[in-house]
Amino acid sequence: MTTVLITGANRGLGLALAQLYAADRADVIVCCRDPENADALKQLAASSGGRVQIIQLDVTDLTSIASLKDALGDRPIDILINNAGINGTPKVQSADCIDAEGWINTLRINALSPVLIAQALRDNLRRSSEKKLVAISSDLGSTGVDYGATSAVRSERYAYRASKAALNNGMRGLARDWAADGVVVGILNPGFVRTDMTGARGAASSASISAEESARGLIRQIAGLTRANSGTFWDYRGETIAW
Ligand SMILES: NC(=O)c1ccc[n+]([C@@H]2O[C@H](COP(=O)([O-])OP(=O)(O)OC[C@H]3O[C@@H](n4cnc5c(N)ncnc54)[C@H](OP(=O)(O)O)[C@@H]3O)[C@@H](O)[C@H]2O)c1
Repeated sequence: MTTVLITGANRGLGLALAQLYAADRADVIVCCRDPENADALKQLAASSGGRVQIIQLDVTDLTSIASLKDALGDRPIDILINNAGINGTPKVQSADCIDAEGWINTLRINALSPVLIAQALRDNLRRSSEKKLVAISSDLGSTGVDYGATSAVRSERYAYRASKAALNNGMRGLARDWAADGVVVGILNPGFVRTDMTGARGAASSASISAEESARGLIRQIAGLTRANSGTFWDYRGETIAW
């Protein structure tokens, strides 16, 4: 039985991944900041016959990460998905104006926390059969892709772009440094997905795909993750993205 752990699983992509893995009869550990108010997760857990477990986790809180490790003990984790993330701050992060605290907070959540969580759960990964470490990144973290000055959203996302580039770099390092343990690392762009992050969950959003469609693609790529392609930066359709 595959055991999957997902951070930020109460809404958006994290929730869609949890629902699909649960439907596929995996054991799913779903982490969120506020389990009490995570209605969709509570519903998923209640209908899962004990296969879905909710654990509280604020990815910025070292005590919370340590409590997660305590709750898991030696339990093997086949697939660890670092999904929780933010899109920067409500303030613009642009060539003209940087909100320093917002930048640091974005880096902390999107880039530092996934590495700290991976380190805390390294032994759980090692004890598993699949040993897959996954980061939900973004093509906006690509330094090589030039989006031009025409896209307001992209030109205002300096902190987010830097955070995803740093995430990619950290995950690439773990792909190299933990290869001897058999750990394989997937750095995945989910596409432009209709979630709260992109401003709307409904079909009217400018984002091009649903969370379910993206999650299905991500799960396909995770299933195809091997030693040979570990540390690659891909999208949900399996296309490689330039660093
Ligand atoms: N949507 C897209 O088009 C898109 C594109 C590229 C990459 N991504 C990436 O995909 C991932 C999921 O995004 P999404 O679109 O599903 O966004 P979302 O709907 O805004 O969901 C973000 C999730 O992250 C959680 N989170 C934020 N800060 C946290 C913290 N400190 N501790 C624990 N959980 C925290 C949120 O929990 P709360 O409910 O508690 O805030 C929520 O569950 C992110 O890493 C994002 O950068 C998304």
